[in-house]
Amino acid sequence: MSDTPERKKLTLNTRPGERATRPSEDSSGADRRVRSGARAHRVARAALETGKQGSAEAPAGERGDAAPSRPRPGDRATPPGRRAPAERSDRPRSREDRPLSSSRRRPDEGGGDAAYRSRRDEAGNAQTGGPRPGRPRERRPAADAAPRQHVIARPGENFAVFAPCPLGLEHALTDELHALGFDDAHPGRAGVHFTADWTGMMRANLHSRLATRILVRVAHGPVQNEDELLELARATPWEHWFGAEQTLRVDTSAVRSPMKSLQFCNLRVKDGICDRLREREGERPSIDTVRPDARVHAFLDETSATLYLDTSGESLFKRGWRLDKGEAPLRENLAAGLLALSGWPGNVPLIDPFCGSGTILIEAALKALGVPPGISRPFAFERLRGHQARHWRDLKDDARARILPELPIQMAGADIDPHAIEAARDNAHRAGLTDEAVYFEVADARDTCPLDDQAGWLITNPPYGERLDLEEDRQLWTEWASTLKREFGGWQLHVITSDFDLPKKLRLDPFRRTPIYNGALDCRLFGFQLVQGQYR
Ligand SMILES: C[S@@+](CC[C@H](N)C(=O)[O-])C[C@H]1O[C@@H](n2cnc3c(N)ncnc32)[C@H](O)[C@@H]1O
Repeated sequence: MSDTPERKKLTLNTRPGERATRPSEDSSGADRRVRSGARAHRVARAALETGKQGSAEAPAGERGDAAPSRPRPGDRATPPGRRAPAERSDRPRSREDRPLSSSRRRPDEGGGDAAYRSRRDEAGNAQTGGPRPGRPRERRPAADAAPRQHVIARPGENFAVFAPCPLGLEHALTDELHALGFDDAHPGRAGVHFTADWTGMMRANLHSRLATRILVRVAHGPVQNEDELLELARATPWEHWFGAEQTLRVDTSAVRSPMKSLQFCNLRVKDGICDRLREREGERPSIDTVRPDARVHAFLDETSATLYLDTSGESLFKRGWRLDKGEAPLRENLAAGLLALSGWPGNVPLIDPFCGSGTILIEAALKALGVPPGISRPFAFERLRGHQARHWRDLKDDARARILPELPIQMAGADIDPHAIEAARDNAHRAGLTDEAVYFEVADARDTCPLDDQAGWLITNPPYGERLDLEEDRQLWTEWASTLKREFGGWQLHVITSDFDLPKKLRLDPFRRTPIYNGALDCRLFGFQLVQGQYR
């Protein structure tokens, strides 16, 4: 690539954030539902009486993590009557006929954040230590103060934070958080623990490519029954973060909890929050399960409960650029995780020969350019009391100023399905990337070749074996392996798949196999060093 004079430039189309989905455009917002709670109480009590464990609402956004990907009709590898590679015309075989062009990212055009500006007046609110205290109408002595063993967070201090992530990315997320300056970050199960002040929380939301959400711990204590759970919720100073002017949603999940009904626990937490706010401020928030202003997550284990304030809102893998086209795309934070686990250095060419809707390549381009993943989307913390809108804007402006104008690396994606390529191009445009930044093409993976002489990386998520019949499966991998060995000597190949036999089918020895989950699907990320003509 370096010796190609007309090499392609990675560019951004517009200022990231301009194409963001406004909160009001969220399709789910249209049928926003407010529940009184009385019926929910009756249902939960009935469930409790019949001894049935309620179907607790799993933390929003994590629920879908368990959904296995479905087969895609377009995943058939070999269309009947496929022409021999030499006859195919829809791929750039020669280096000369590959579209190469040079373009530059437009200068910063401004205005991108207006869609997400806080509704609250930020005048005089430039402090950085934490949210401004709320404005409770009436402050009472803490007659309902928590028992001593409870840990109740206060605003303006450091918080214990938990950042959930896809299973298998815990260490990569820990590294990412270390790089962001959260030195005490350490892996837990399906997430990472760290400490942050309110500014740190905002930075983590803005910059983490791997986290699914950022949960701030506001209370923790031993609980043995539902009433103690209510007391813990009632003793937590929610009025600092929200009140009756916000809508609320509570989700509860548990591991080995002795509680009989998680649904009832969920209602007890909600009751504790609403009781406190009604006692202190005369009114309680309404419940909105679809687009709440404030989300609280309760986690129960054998002996204790932890209450978290969800500062992200929608899951962080929703960056704001994906159109609802394409089936079974990788989640954006999983794609970013593959890039991190593979060790792709960011300055060598990258090709995804089974690119689908382009998730891996778009995430790679944004990472290489230093575009913060959260620059184009709203966050729940923007709707909380005391949101420091000016400070938040400064953080984003600072991050935006660090975005590189262009990168001299090649990125390309191929997919046999024209609809997938259309979706990939649309997604890239919405992410602010020009056509020249990532080159997408309808092509068979078996016909791909490097765009120039510089060796790079192939990172891909090919169709899983279960979607192909046996003969197609065998033929696809044998032929793709030939292409890899013929065209990609010196490249690294990283493949996420649930087919643990894939290395055998490719007749390649992986130098690394990393366990990782794609939703509920147990997968491996296999790493291979490709050598010209290499067979085992
Ligand atoms: C698991 S999906 C990739 C999803 C993608 N990572 C995303 O995030 O959207 C596998 C893709 O491989 C494509 N595919 C199947 N056979 C192919 C072939 N022989 N050559 C190129 N693409 C193929 C399918 O059309 C499908 O889009």
